[in-house]
Amino acid sequence: MDNRVIIGGQWGDEGKGKIVDALGEGVDWVIRYQGGANAGHTIMRGDEKIVLHLVPSGLLREGVKGYLGNGMVIDPWALRDEILSLEEIGIKVRDRMFVSAAAHLLLPYHKRIDEAGESQLKRKSIGTTGRGIGPCYGDKVARTGLRVGDLLQPNENLERMVIEKVLEANERLSALYDAEPLPASGIAQELVVLAKTLGPMIVDGYEALAGVRRGTESALFEGAQGTLLDIDHGSYPFVTSSNATVGGAMTGTGLPPRCLGEIYGIFKAYCTRVGNGPFPSELLAEEGEDLRRLGGEFGATTGRARRCGWFDLVAARYSVDLNGMTGVVITKLDVLDGMSVIKAATAYEYEGTERMTFPARAGDLERCKTVYREFQGWEKPTTGCRSLTDLPARARQYLEFLEQELGTHIIGVSVGRGRDEMIWTPEGIST
Ligand code: IMP
Repeated sequence: MDNRVIIGGQWGDEGKGKIVDALGEGVDWVIRYQGGANAGHTIMRGDEKIVLHLVPSGLLREGVKGYLGNGMVIDPWALRDEILSLEEIGIKVRDRMFVSAAAHLLLPYHKRIDEAGESQLKRKSIGTTGRGIGPCYGDKVARTGLRVGDLLQPNENLERMVIEKVLEANERLSALYDAEPLPASGIAQELVVLAKTLGPMIVDGYEALAGVRRGTESALFEGAQGTLLDIDHGSYPFVTSSNATVGGAMTGTGLPPRCLGEIYGIFKAYCTRVGNGPFPSELLAEEGEDLRRLGGEFGATTGRARRCGWFDLVAARYSVDLNGMTGVVITKLDVLDGMSVIKAATAYEYEGTERMTFPARAGDLERCKTVYREFQGWEKPTTGCRSLTDLPARARQYLEFLEQELGTHIIGVSVGRGRDEMIWTPEGIST
């Protein structure tokens, strides 16, 4: 079986969870490699809605092994709670979940610093999820973080290390943000208990993924967030703190490029963004609210209303090129079913000239206006469609246009929330 990397093509929330769940059948490993509990992957199991933040979505399939790579930042409280809530609904993952010893530990002070920093920035804030992601990656890069492997130390050592870190963080909290200190011993004691639960899952990543490296085991790499939120290639500084683009799958696991296989990009049939920062094709006021209501566009992690807009081809082409996508999946096509007019941004207007490329600097992107191509809506339901020929002709035309502009095959179209509400098109749309 070929390996595959699933990457968010836009600003996150493209519906990757459902696609990973669908493609997870028969794979040996589902691997998360960046980000942390800032991600919110929603999967429907019958009528049951399951939201995952750290546990890979593909783990909902029995027999699949899950791996949280070294590129991740792991909140051990959040991980334990997620494992327990899956067990409550009869999904046992404990004995098939593995966490790299080199992943970083995200501790309560990271969240406190994240929140305090954001409120200090006021109107200039990033609009983070408040999950402590930036401060934790900050510690990683500054070489002052604790790693998951540290949980395996004798209790006294672990307790001492954690107390020291919390006290240091308390100084930072007080000096920079005038914020309340956190209870150092309480946190250290809780972590000692958590270490017992999580300890059996902690592995050396090089050894755990040996089968994938050798090619005897298959892997599905589950990206979180999206290309335009990538720390290096996204709309900096309004980005997350990890590499959500394809390179993250290598540095975040230690696997070489030949292990990646197909690179699939997931794009919504329109665009959404949570948090602050430029969004050229954003729809404001009622138009945006309509799309939000139709698409149920509220964050799976924070419940925040997502900003909504039309499909942005300039950004999407950048995303396809940057990641070397070998196929794309379009999700939530059905959300557009009732629209009489559908638009897609084909170019930007930047300081009076047409611009076809995506400026990664937020300041430049802010000044881009969109040039739209308009389509007449199909105004018919698509959720029952299971093949291209079932789709209304105008829906097919819209997809054909996207495919031509993106320059890579659309290999699937999601037409509803359910697992089987999908049209698979391995040969593409315009063949
Ligand atoms: P952070 O990752 O919490 O630091 O947030 C940084 C930016 O990334 C903010 O704009 C968040 O709204 C956004 N973000 C982080 N995770 C996700 C996600 O899973 N989906 C969509 N946006 C996200």
